[in-house]
Amino acid sequence: MSISTVGVIGAGQMGNGIAQSMAMAGLEVILNDIDGASIERALATIQKSLTRMESKGKLSEPAEQVMGRIKTSTELSALAQTQLVVEAVSENEALKKSLFKQLDELCPAETILASNTSSISITRIAAATNRPDQVIGMHFMNPVPVMKLVEVIRGLQTSDEVNDKIVALVEQLGKVAVGSEDRPGFIVNRILLPMINEAVFALYEGVGEAKAIDDAMKLGTAHPMGPLELADMIGLDTCLSIMEVLYEGFRDSKYRPCPLLRSMVDAGYLGRKSGQGFYSYE
Ligand code: 3HC
Repeated sequence: MSISTVGVIGAGQMGNGIAQSMAMAGLEVILNDIDGASIERALATIQKSLTRMESKGKLSEPAEQVMGRIKTSTELSALAQTQLVVEAVSENEALKKSLFKQLDELCPAETILASNTSSISITRIAAATNRPDQVIGMHFMNPVPVMKLVEVIRGLQTSDEVNDKIVALVEQLGKVAVGSEDRPGFIVNRILLPMINEAVFALYEGVGEAKAIDDAMKLGTAHPMGPLELADMIGLDTCLSIMEVLYEGFRDSKYRPCPLLRSMVDAGYLGRKSGQGFYSYE
């Protein structure tokens, strides 16, 4: 049976993009967050994105119809009847494990539990449940409605059936699934984040100003965004936590986070979402 009802936990930029993409593909979605204000902001973001897509003729049905498939809840228990739950909370392993443990107790045995973690081990998250064969990684890219890739990460015990169902779902979303082994950072962040971290080192060491570094990479290597503006979009706290997972996971100094990245996070400069990162956002 294919998946038709999905719960998404976390109404931040990844969670709201995942909810939107699922609803656009015809699935019934329950968007969950403990913070009602985050849910309101997420709904406004989804509405804006859908309106933009509708005006460009990229939607096959009215935006309102897509919005109508997204319900919200601040209670985890609202997800009890979903066939798939995608967790997209911040990159905190203890928080993710606690959520998976609660979901395992709450959801029927058939429900698949997926994590949008950008770098934490799926096998370790799965071990917090009594259904490690039903736990899998679905790593979406930002901005979710636009980016085609979903990394699909099998934990050590993930079943073939669950993997096949998730790959089929990714296709239903109009996206492309790429399988990755359960190693720190998977494929994308293992390659992307050291590049971003190196750009922060270049800024820290005065090799060039932020705009020079970004222009060099955009105009010299045809990247759609420079590494520093991309870091601001991803969130500097997320960038730092991914570098820490790589550093701890490989125990190799080449993954050490740049001190400037750490200081900026300590100062509350988190990028676009806080209004200040390597650039200012009004
Ligand atoms: N919702 C709907 N549509 C959107 C959108 C959104 N949130 N954001 C952009 N778009 C659409 C635009 O409407 C536009 O559509 P069009 O081609 O029909 O005109 C198209 O996407 C391009 O957008 P813009 O013209 O506004 O701007 P750009 O051409 O600069 O593209 C971008 C924006 C798609 C963000 C592009 O700059 C890009 O690809 N940047 C790199 C993104 C990237 O690398 N993401 C991965 C980050 S890593 C990650 O997510 C993993 C995590 O774990 C850290």
